[in-house]
Amino acid sequence: MITVFGSINMDLIATTERLPKPGETVAGNGFSTAAGGKGANQALAARRAGSSVRMSGAVGQDGFASPALELLDGAGTDLSAVKRVSEPTGTALILVGGDGENMIAVVPGANGTVTSADATAAVAALQPEDTLMLQLEIPVAAVEQALSEAKAKGVTTILNLAPLIPDAPRLGRLADIVIANETEFERLAAQEGMTAADREEALKRLHGETGQTLIVTLGGDGVIAIRDGHISRAKGLVIEPVDTVGAGDTFCGYFAASLDDGLEFEAALRRAAVAGSLACLKAGAQPSIPVASEVAAKL
Ligand code: RIB
Repeated sequence: MITVFGSINMDLIATTERLPKPGETVAGNGFSTAAGGKGANQALAARRAGSSVRMSGAVGQDGFASPALELLDGAGTDLSAVKRVSEPTGTALILVGGDGENMIAVVPGANGTVTSADATAAVAALQPEDTLMLQLEIPVAAVEQALSEAKAKGVTTILNLAPLIPDAPRLGRLADIVIANETEFERLAAQEGMTAADREEALKRLHGETGQTLIVTLGGDGVIAIRDGHISRAKGLVIEPVDTVGAGDTFCGYFAASLDDGLEFEAALRRAAVAGSLACLKAGAQPSIPVASEVAAKL
């Protein structure tokens, strides 16, 4: 059983031939809306991977609240810990360029009302054998409270260090398993401009200090990780990305679900990397998350 304590957004997505530079206006060639939010995306990925999932977070009472939860609801996610507040549902303004790269601005709205009391309630409902998964799109105090209470209870915690915020390195020390992209990992390790060799050294150093499982996602180059003193690598699929929004979330959700389901660590990394690749082949964060049979077909 996995509880995701995190954000729920409505994504407003414009596609353009190329992403604009600061101050520049470019013509768009498409617009769509889709359910998103790093927390909700990871919850849906874990659910589509086959886990029982509870989502804990907040939405508003506006027109975006229902569509933001629709796919989670349809997939059978437990939404009883999603509160309805007077602030608007979180939104993300997303530009996707012709090469599949993106720019995102997130307006937290209701996500900003998630409190330490919500963290306590979310952890209280967990059993020691459960997994708690978090990201950094809800208030820092709530994330910190959830991580420390889960640790006291013996619950496994997975923290995705996204988006990069000033508290990320400190919070990163509090989780059992940390998932970061290259930039987030450089911040965690307090070292910029890492080569592949630097990254491996930094993984060993941090792991030696904390004993944590550390996973760094490398986009098209797959993933490198360290667990129990051992470095592992996994590759996704060779693809031409259409839209990379939500690929990292798909990796996180599939990884959590795979471990929760008892898969060996390296098999969980590979399954998650393949799921992340597949998520780059369709537009939109949640609509692009593959179901378990699609991932299995590529393994
Ligand atoms: O990781 C992708 C997500 O980031 C989007 O769905 C958007 O809502 C932002 O939170």
